[in-house]
Amino acid sequence: MKILLVGSGGREHAMALKLKAAPTPVELFAAPGSDAVGDLGTCLPYRLEDIAGIVKWAAEHRPDLSIIGPEGPLVAGLADGLRAAGLAVFGHDANTARLEGSKSFAKDFMHRYRIPCAASVSVSELHNGEAIISAWTHGYPIVLKADGLAAGKGVVLAATQEEALATLRSFLDGQFGEASKTVLLEAPLFGMELSQHVLVDVDATHARYVMLPPCQDHKRIFEGDKGPNTGGMGAFGPIPFLKAEDSTLLRDALVVPTVRGLQQEGLNARGVLFLGVMWAADGPRLLEYNCRFGDPETQVLMQLLNEDLPQLLLEVAEGRLDRERVKLNPGCAISVVLAAEGYPGAPKMGVPIDVGTPSVTVIHAGTKKLDGRWVTNGGRVINLSTHAGNLASARQRIQEGLDSIHWPGMQYRKDIGLRALRHAEAGRSVRDAW
Ligand code: AMP
Ligand code: GLY
Repeated sequence: MKILLVGSGGREHAMALKLKAAPTPVELFAAPGSDAVGDLGTCLPYRLEDIAGIVKWAAEHRPDLSIIGPEGPLVAGLADGLRAAGLAVFGHDANTARLEGSKSFAKDFMHRYRIPCAASVSVSELHNGEAIISAWTHGYPIVLKADGLAAGKGVVLAATQEEALATLRSFLDGQFGEASKTVLLEAPLFGMELSQHVLVDVDATHARYVMLPPCQDHKRIFEGDKGPNTGGMGAFGPIPFLKAEDSTLLRDALVVPTVRGLQQEGLNARGVLFLGVMWAADGPRLLEYNCRFGDPETQVLMQLLNEDLPQLLLEVAEGRLDRERVKLNPGCAISVVLAAEGYPGAPKMGVPIDVGTPSVTVIHAGTKKLDGRWVTNGGRVINLSTHAGNLASARQRIQEGLDSIHWPGMQYRKDIGLRALRHAEAGRSVRDAW
């Protein structure tokens, strides 16, 4: 199967490894890919923004399947362009990708389909926003969200009224350009956060979905969930104390109305939806939609899936997803991010990496090859990923893998999955205080 994979990060390297390891033989092309992905296929010289260039290449070379990793090209209409050329695409049209591309659009959608979520109001005028913040009754922190895409930096939890006002001004002043000219002011939710991925295949004639195992990301840079937010410092899945009946509840409250809403609004969907969920005291609440796979959740999901990935994604892309569940490896998978010095601020690039022969899977997120040697080339550099019988042994295996990889300034969290492990060991459920 000839596959075009769009993207260049750890998510795409993890997918590339899984695609190439599948029973179906794969000829892989990537745009733009990375040096690590280049070891598995051919990298094409197209930037993610070059929608026309990628469509032109694909129209000429006719991949059997195109997979779009990041949100940027989805929101910009890459899937529409590829479909217009008659190609099978795993990835949503721009209309559907607005669920991630516009937080106010997503919020209105949630309200229309009675999907439980935080109370919020959308503002684009400073005086109006200031008045709302001054009269705020929903408690603190006030959650401020830039409406559009802001590379994961568009959400601020303001602990005080002053901070909320300052953030509002900065957003409306164009901190993220057009993306922050509209701001969502949202009530805070408290509880346990999780990432629920759902493969969706929806059009006017059918609405099908299949849920993937729930994962948990760790957004803060430091152990104990301290320090600034990052793109994610590590993830694991499934969540050991989340029972089948909890997943059923989540499905009925959040997934089913989402899929129904897509169909009712004529939003075709052939790809993945990633629901950011807060399991609050009164049940699961939807924080946000992403129209793509999470990073580093993908690195976990690829370890868990026991499927011929090219065929599974092609089923979705061709609108013939028809199964109750996906086959999974038993046990638990984990992925720990090794980040560069300076991350999440300005990461130190070009630092040589010592990689031995780790006993776990080494996924390249932000590396490049310089004179035959791997060097750092991004904030999140490497994701060590593995799978084991349970979360405790998966954590242990990562610890062993860490012995054979190092560079000066490398930072990582040793507590990925630890809080969940303790929660499970104490016999607690998702309804107990997190
Ligand atoms: P992002 O993935 O960059 O949109 O980050 C959003 C993050 O902000 C989520 O992962 C949550 O941790 C946090 N967040 C978003 N909305 C709320 C909310 N209403 N209450 C509490 N935390 C929130
Ligand atoms: N890991 C969170 C995200 O991909 O948005």
